[in-house]
Amino acid sequence: MASASATLLKSSPIIDKSEWIKGQNLRQPSAGFVRCHSTSALTIRASSYADELVKTAKTIASPGRGILAMDESNATCGKRLDSIGLENTEANRQAYRTLLVSAPGLGEYISGAILFEETLYQSTTEGKKMVDVLVEQKIVPGIKVDKGLVPLPGSNNESWCQGLDGLSSRTAAYYQQGARFAKWRTVVSIPNGPSALAVKEAAWGLARYAAISQDSGLVPIVEPEILLDGEHGIDRTFEVAQKVWAEVFFYLAENNVLFEGILLKPSMVTPGAECKDKATPQQVADYTLKLLHRRIPPAVPGIMFLSGGQSEVEATLNLNAMNQSPNPWHVSFSYARALQNTCLKTWGGRPENVKAAQDALLTRAKANSLAQLGKYTGEGESEEAKKGMFVKGYVY
Ligand code: 13P
Repeated sequence: MASASATLLKSSPIIDKSEWIKGQNLRQPSAGFVRCHSTSALTIRASSYADELVKTAKTIASPGRGILAMDESNATCGKRLDSIGLENTEANRQAYRTLLVSAPGLGEYISGAILFEETLYQSTTEGKKMVDVLVEQKIVPGIKVDKGLVPLPGSNNESWCQGLDGLSSRTAAYYQQGARFAKWRTVVSIPNGPSALAVKEAAWGLARYAAISQDSGLVPIVEPEILLDGEHGIDRTFEVAQKVWAEVFFYLAENNVLFEGILLKPSMVTPGAECKDKATPQQVADYTLKLLHRRIPPAVPGIMFLSGGQSEVEATLNLNAMNQSPNPWHVSFSYARALQNTCLKTWGGRPENVKAAQDALLTRAKANSLAQLGKYTGEGESEEAKKGMFVKGYVY
């Protein structure tokens, strides 16, 4: 072991920082080695993009801002469009995504937007690259890189997430196209176990994806979603979440992932959606922060929660409760449904409603921005924003 790494060190160049910056548009060799003393080197691989990854992660985790998750696959986008009576055509997807990315002033509240592959290569209805519109709004473009969930043989009807094969070629191409962060969503089901096999598979897949993304200059969002489904109480969610995050960080460390260059996307710790005992925002915040303190190193710059079927207002109230005193990490949002629901319904596919729909998006983005700063009051919210969006067995 010792001699193998010694040989590796001898043959591996130590990349000078100025060379990293010069060549950043080109794909770098996969590893640089970090010197710890003038005469020796650590055997820990560091992405040649290390400085850039840290910078990108910090930009996304900036005060009062969070992520707009608009990475619905074409199939999921089809379900959204269907709910407002529109056909799932490329033109309709383009019109909706144009509305989102071009909402005036969105970048005040939104630091990153996760895109589906189609959108990364798509232009707006005015013919501008969606990516360019985001950059002009000071929003970092991101990309969903997983290939979705399939049944995990040998488990208790659980799932695993596909997409590692060929991932490094895809992440390199996405970087060239302007993406600077990535997302991989896998799920853990409490009612179906979770089995040790499913948790291990989820954690290992996330860690391999994170290492590959960092190697291409993309900040990985690490998202093991613990599904809301089930009748269990909040203590059971807490117990499962502790197990899941312990394994995730074990494998992230084993894969030499740079913690300063990742973002997390956890579920909040809540009771199962079908549990008769509901939790207050204060309870959700207490359990969730306790989990984070026990499991997440302070080197991680940002915790960007998913909304998971909570209502728009619920997701904002819970986030606000978590930001009532300083945290070691930026505690913020990466919502899809809890940012887009009222916006989508207000639009209804009608060009004359675009402005009102953008205002609805900005209202939610601003509310969550205030919640990130711990200053949201919940006043003046619409009835629509208070409606829960939980769907049993939801597939994203
Ligand atoms: P929701 O906020 O709708 O749960 O979406 C989360 C997600 O992973 C989308 O990127």
